[in-house]
Amino acid sequence: PRAQPLAGKRVLITAGPTHEPIDPVRYIANRSSGKQGYAIAAAARAAGAEVILVSGPVDLDEVPGVSMTHVESARDMLAAVQAALPVDIAIFAAAVADWRVVNEGAQKLKKTAGNAMPPLQLTENPDILATISKLSEHRPPLVIGFAAETEHLIDNAKAKIARKGCDWIVANDVSPATGIMGGDDNTVHLLTRSTDSADIAVDSWAPMSKEQVATTLVARIADTV
Ligand code: C5P
Repeated sequence: PRAQPLAGKRVLITAGPTHEPIDPVRYIANRSSGKQGYAIAAAARAAGAEVILVSGPVDLDEVPGVSMTHVESARDMLAAVQAALPVDIAIFAAAVADWRVVNEGAQKLKKTAGNAMPPLQLTENPDILATISKLSEHRPPLVIGFAAETEHLIDNAKAKIARKGCDWIVANDVSPATGIMGGDDNTVHLLTRSTDSADIAVDSWAPMSKEQVATTLVARIADTV
């Protein structure tokens, strides 16, 4: 294999959770360490790509040689992604919060005796993967999403490719028993839809580290582009 198979390619990656503020000190978020997205950024860089990593708040070191944008909310993440276009390959590994608080408190909400709990009014966040997959201008030639599921993994992932409009999905089983959440290993299935056919191929990989998932995914990308 070539040493730098992604030389000359621009790769955009989202990683980590988003934080949706409730008030200045509280937020809503999904569980996400950011490890898988950061590992993909490192692997794509090692393969010679120009890498832009748009990251939510995580406790990880920056990836050497990668252009980093740090964001908090889903809306900020979408704006950073749009600003990075055009790219050749876009990989959406972030665990974006589905909802944000409409009535965000300008001051810290106070817990006082006898007070009712403050009701949170939620509204839907933009779906970054779907938005970018459905662009008419600057739609990246290869758009890859992730699907973390606790049941009906493959069926849900197939439906997700269709619904979001992406090309590939990396599906992983995150049921609590697997220990994948926050862990170092991952068991994934790669679902690929070729542009000239509606068929979806499923490739199930042996359990491996998140670094190995990253290098295996990057090798598959290099075979395709
Ligand atoms: O619908 P679901 O959240 O399961 O889809 C997961 C995929 O969609 C991931 O690739 C995730 O990064 C992406 N996503 C997104 N913006 C959202 C929700 C999910 O980019 N608001």
